[in-house]
Amino acid sequence: MANSNLAQAKAAKNDEFYTQYADIEKEIQAYLDYNDGVFKGKTLLLPCDDPEWSNFTKFFAQNFERFGLKKLISTSYAPDSKLFKTPYQPTLFETEHPQFDPAKTQVRGKIFTLTHDTSGDGRIDVNDLQWTYLQGDGDFRSKEIIELRDEADIIITNPPFSLFREFLAWLQEGGKQFSLIGNMNAITYKEVFPLIKENKLWLGNGFHAGNAYFSTPHGREYADGVFDESTGLVKFRNVCWYTNIDHGRRHKPLPLMTMEENIRFSKHKEIKGQGYQRYDNYDAIEVPFTDAIPADYPGVMGVPISFLDKYSPEQFEILGATESEGRGFSGDLWRNESRVMQPLVGGERVYKRIFIKKRAEQNENHIKN
Ligand SMILES: C[S@@+](CC[C@H](N)C(=O)[O-])C[C@H]1O[C@@H](n2cnc3c(N)ncnc32)[C@H](O)[C@@H]1O
Repeated sequence: MANSNLAQAKAAKNDEFYTQYADIEKEIQAYLDYNDGVFKGKTLLLPCDDPEWSNFTKFFAQNFERFGLKKLISTSYAPDSKLFKTPYQPTLFETEHPQFDPAKTQVRGKIFTLTHDTSGDGRIDVNDLQWTYLQGDGDFRSKEIIELRDEADIIITNPPFSLFREFLAWLQEGGKQFSLIGNMNAITYKEVFPLIKENKLWLGNGFHAGNAYFSTPHGREYADGVFDESTGLVKFRNVCWYTNIDHGRRHKPLPLMTMEENIRFSKHKEIKGQGYQRYDNYDAIEVPFTDAIPADYPGVMGVPISFLDKYSPEQFEILGATESEGRGFSGDLWRNESRVMQPLVGGERVYKRIFIKKRAEQNENHIKN
């Protein structure tokens, strides 16, 4: 198979990962803990879903009244349009419904809507979802889904990973509140990092202990330790939520030691008794571990990408990232006479870094031993 075909096949598989109920609940609860009215009176769109069995649709339908939602809309992508083909079998829910149309089931997307009690049981929940086929295949870039985006106040989903950049651009065009699941590598994409730097986008509360579990039709292709035969789930450690909905964790400053304390007590041998090195080609010190960020250092520090999971905009300012991710990311920190864009320490390349500086008012915010 030619390389491009291989890459295409891999990308196609990357699109089929189904999110766990508990992971959705944990993330959404963090938004509610911060602002319990976050969904009140709002229209919520869940695109790129499979509403008959998606946990996103189930979770928001079951909590429709508690969250005070005005309208829930959920759409799916037609089986024939999916890049990754699995044998298609419509659900009983669909085939037993009077609307079922064998001519449409594989080529059209579906739309599920929830606004009021239709079953007459006195409550609004999953039993009140109304559905119909879409005009098209449910592609988020199609006119009818764009219209739904424009109607919505908030958009939440786990989009196809292979179209992450496009999906984020589509959200930006809509200018709505959103939360979506994506790969952590996306942090340094040129379409993503500038938004993070400007505090227009941040990481969500996150998966439990950083482990994201998904069901997928091709789990068996993953190694032991990633795929668990007994649960049928794959586990990824490099997946996070990207959102512009506020939550409490991002306003909690990281507890940190001073530079002197780190040099005396750090658990990292690279720092303890050693101190901090400077980059050869960037005007900053190298901090290889987030928990070794010196609380009292007034200059620029290069920190691992995973720092963003602990980032509080009141504690630190993000100045840029290493140039290897996109030209112009590091402001004037790069000594470009070195021509090497990866950060170098003593001539050795280190991992990509984000450059941060503490906010002035955080001078005294550190742990005293
Ligand atoms: C990562 S899965 C997540 C599904 C569901 N939201 C969940 O979390 O369980 C992304 C879904 O988007 C669908 N998809 C792929 N390309 C799409 C497109 N252009 N427009 C809409 N959906 C698409 C995939 O087939 C897949 O079902």
